[in-house]
Amino acid sequence: MAACSTVLAFLLALSCVRERRFLAANAAVGVNWGTLSSHRAPPPVVVDLLRANRIGKVKLFDADPGVLSALARSGIQVMVGVTNGELAGIAGSPAAADAWVAQNVSRYVGRAGVDIRYIAVGNEPFLTSYQGQFLSYVIPAMTNIQQSLVKANLANYVKLVVPCNADAYQSASVPSQGVFRTELTQIMTQLATYLSSNGAPFVVNIYPFLSLYQNSDFPEDYAFFEGSTHPLVDGPNVYYNAFDGNFDTLISALSKIGFGQLPIAIGEVGWPTEGASSANLTAARAFNQGLISRVMSNKGTPLRPGVSPADVYLFSLLDEEQKSVLPGNFERHWGIFSFDGQAKYPLNLGLGNPVLKNAKEVPYLPSRWCVANPAQDLDKASNHLKLACDMADCTTLYHGGLCNGIGEKGNISFAFNSYYQMQKQDAKSCDFDGHGMITYLDPSMGECRFLVGIEDSSSSAVSSCCRVFCGVLAVWVLMYLRMMGSA
Ligand SMILES: *[C@@H]1O[C@H](CO)[C@@H](O)[C@H](O)[C@H]1NC(C)=O
Ligand SMILES: *[C@@H]1O[C@H](CO)[C@@H](O)[C@H](O)[C@H]1NC(C)=O
Ligand SMILES: *[C@@H]1O[C@H](CO)[C@@H](O)[C@H](O)[C@H]1NC(C)=O
Repeated sequence: MAACSTVLAFLLALSCVRERRFLAANAAVGVNWGTLSSHRAPPPVVVDLLRANRIGKVKLFDADPGVLSALARSGIQVMVGVTNGELAGIAGSPAAADAWVAQNVSRYVGRAGVDIRYIAVGNEPFLTSYQGQFLSYVIPAMTNIQQSLVKANLANYVKLVVPCNADAYQSASVPSQGVFRTELTQIMTQLATYLSSNGAPFVVNIYPFLSLYQNSDFPEDYAFFEGSTHPLVDGPNVYYNAFDGNFDTLISALSKIGFGQLPIAIGEVGWPTEGASSANLTAARAFNQGLISRVMSNKGTPLRPGVSPADVYLFSLLDEEQKSVLPGNFERHWGIFSFDGQAKYPLNLGLGNPVLKNAKEVPYLPSRWCVANPAQDLDKASNHLKLACDMADCTTLYHGGLCNGIGEKGNISFAFNSYYQMQKQDAKSCDFDGHGMITYLDPSMGECRFLVGIEDSSSSAVSSCCRVFCGVLAVWVLMYLRMMGSA
C-alpha cells in the first residue's frame, strides 16, 4: 500500500493535476456542498463543476477525506465542519481537538494544497429544536480547537466560526427590536468577542422560504427581492424584503451585546425547487438571482448601508435525496444543480458565467430503468411502492413535486426505479415479486425525470486513478510474490 501511494503520488502529479484557472480572490458568492446522497458524483467531478462555474468558496458540513483531497490545488477556499455530534468530545478534551485539527486540517493545508480558511464549530448548535443539548459545548470546543490551531501554527490562517440558525435571535416587531434569545446572551457575547478579536465573521443562516412556508399570512412578495406591497416600516428605515429585515434584526441583536460592527457572513441561504407549493423552479431562480444581484450591488441594508455580507454561501450546490424530510419534502430539493450536477435553471452567480455550467464526465450507471411490469396486477404492486419509497426518494411524486400527477402506474414505476438505482441497478432489486421489469427505454415523462444512478465510487480522490494504476500495480506485486515463492 505504501508503495502504491508513492507510485500514485508520482502518477497523480503527472496525470491528475488540472490546469489552475483564475478564481476571483474575493468572490463573495460560495456554495454549501452537502453529501447526504446515495448517488454521489465523485468529488473530483464536483470540484471540476465548481471550477467551471468559477465558484471560489465552498462550505462543507464535515471533513470528508475524499472531498478535501479533491479540493487540493483547486484554488477554492474551504470551510470544514465539526459536526454537532463531535462537539462534546472536543469540548472535553484538548487532545481530541488536537487530533481533529491534525487529521482534518493540518494534513490538508500547506503543501497538500487545500485552502482551508474556516472551521465551522458545530452546525446550528443553538437551534431551538435541539433543546439546548449542545449549548455548553460550543465555547469550550472553540477554545480547545483554537489552542490546537495555535500549536499547529495555523491560527493566523484558519479561523473558527459558528454557523447559527436565525432562531438564535428574535424581534417582537421590527428589526431594531432584535435580541438574542435570553439563554444565549452570555454565549453570544463570548462568541462575538472571539470573532471580533480574530477577524472572523458571525455566520448566520437566513431562510425567507421557511418564513413563507411556515406562516400562511407571510406576504409572499416580501420573501423575494423585487419590492413588496407590504414593506416593513421601522422608524426611519423601510424594509422591502425578508432577507434585509432578518439581517438587520441580527445587527440589532449584536449591537445590544456591544458588537454592532461585527462582519456577518451568510452560511446558508437559498430556495428549494420542489416539495412545497412555494417551492418551484421559477421561485428558486427569482430568489437566488435576486439575492445575488443584491449582494453584488453592495447596496447593503438600512443598518449597514453600502456594505455586503462578508461571504454568502448558497444552499445548496446539489440536491441531497438522503436528507430527512421531517421539515418537509422540499428538504431534498435545495440544489441549484440536481444530484448529478445538471443545472436546474439559468442562474448568473455573478462570478463571470452568464448561466450555470453542467458537470462533465459524470460516471452514470448504464442507461436502464426499473418499471412496473404491465403484465402484472397494479394493486398488488402498490404494496411494493411503499417499501421502495421507505428506502429510496419518492418526494417528487407528492403535491408540489415535478412527478406529481403521473398516474398510479407512473407512481409505481417511479418508486421501483428510485429503489433500483439506489441499489446500483442490482437486478434483484427490480424484482418486487415479479412486479418489476428492467427496461432500456427511458420512462421519463415530460418534466418528470426517471433517474439513472451514479457509479459507486469510494469517496477517495485517488480512487479513479487508483482503479487503473493500483490494478496494474497489484498484478505486478502478485507476479513478483509468485516468482519469490517459486524461487
Ligand atoms: C475528522 O473528520 C472526520 C469527518 O468529518 C471525522 O469522522 C473524524 O472523526 C475526524 N477526526 C478526528 C480525529 O476527530
Ligand atoms: C412558484 O412559487 C411562487 C412563490 O411562492 C408562487 O407564487 C407561484 O405560484 C409558484 N408557481 C407555480 C407554477 O406553482
Ligand atoms: C401518486 O402518488 C402521490 C403521492 O403519494 C399521490 O398524491 C397521487 O395521488 C398518486 N397518484 C395516483 C394516481 O395514485
